[in-house]
Amino acid sequence: MSEHSLEIRDLHARIADGEEILKGVDLVVPRGEVHALMGPNGSGKSTLAKVMAGDPQYEVTGGDVLIDGESILEMEPDERARAGLYLAFQYPVEVPGVSIANFLRLALNARREEGDEIGVMEFYTKLQRAVKALDWDESIIERNLHEGFSGGEKKRSEILQLLVLESRYAILDETDSGLDVDALKVVAKGVNAARGPEFGALVITHYQRLLNYIVPDKVHVMAAGRIVKQGPKELAMELDTRGYDWIRVEAGLAPVGDDEHAPRVGA
Ligand SMILES: Nc1ncnc2c1ncn2[C@@H]1O[C@H](COP(=O)(O)OP(=O)(O)OP(=O)(O)O)[C@@H](O)[C@H]1O
Ligand SMILES: [Mg+2]
Repeated sequence: MSEHSLEIRDLHARIADGEEILKGVDLVVPRGEVHALMGPNGSGKSTLAKVMAGDPQYEVTGGDVLIDGESILEMEPDERARAGLYLAFQYPVEVPGVSIANFLRLALNARREEGDEIGVMEFYTKLQRAVKALDWDESIIERNLHEGFSGGEKKRSEILQLLVLESRYAILDETDSGLDVDALKVVAKGVNAARGPEFGALVITHYQRLLNYIVPDKVHVMAAGRIVKQGPKELAMELDTRGYDWIRVEAGLAPVGDDEHAPRVGA
């Protein structure tokens, strides 16, 4: 199982010197598959993505995260990227003064051994192919990274990174809020273009809507810091119509209204 997979084993994490948020997460994404992670507001989905990225806000207190059998928890964030992990966040950063093309070339070369840097022509061919796959205008690659980008453009830029960097595993944290249906289609297009035997992804989303375009091989549902249910793609549709309370009750948790992690404005 562990040989070609992204594996999260009984992962516990807390806010540094604070409350435990992840309370034993178990989840495996075999390479070649795309899984969805769903769950109510505040259940710990984004925290899981940030802990996997090595965000220093959180402290891992137990369990492990393995990429193809190798633990990444002791690695710095950039080492995790070199190990094959790609993470896109709900709110991508702006990097003023650095063009998309330059940023991607630096990022790609940072993952390669010294002396094995990608040639300029080879890089531009690759970049242009990815820009085309996302139906984007070529001039975009000279824009500064995320500077003045609309929400949809930032999203498209993240997906462009995913295609160019050729990571083995991607974690995409998608708030559907603020993204119109075209932007959702771009995310789906990118993930579907990356799909193949050498690529695995975990797509975090609230709504079935995105999953109409990215059909997941499996759906995991998180509640109160744990995976409480797994199922086939049909589970996403069931959640869309029935909501999450029945899953929480099945898992022995109080319905959302009673929970300390109930939805909060701005969560
Ligand atoms: N750095 C932090 N400081 C304080 N509380 C935090 C921090 N990080 C996470 N939390 C809390 O942990 C819980 C889980 O948050 P998280 O963002 O992981 O939820 P989520 O499942 O991504 O929710 P949403 O669906 O709204 O995006 C929330 O109650 C949140 O307030
Ligand atoms: Mg979130």
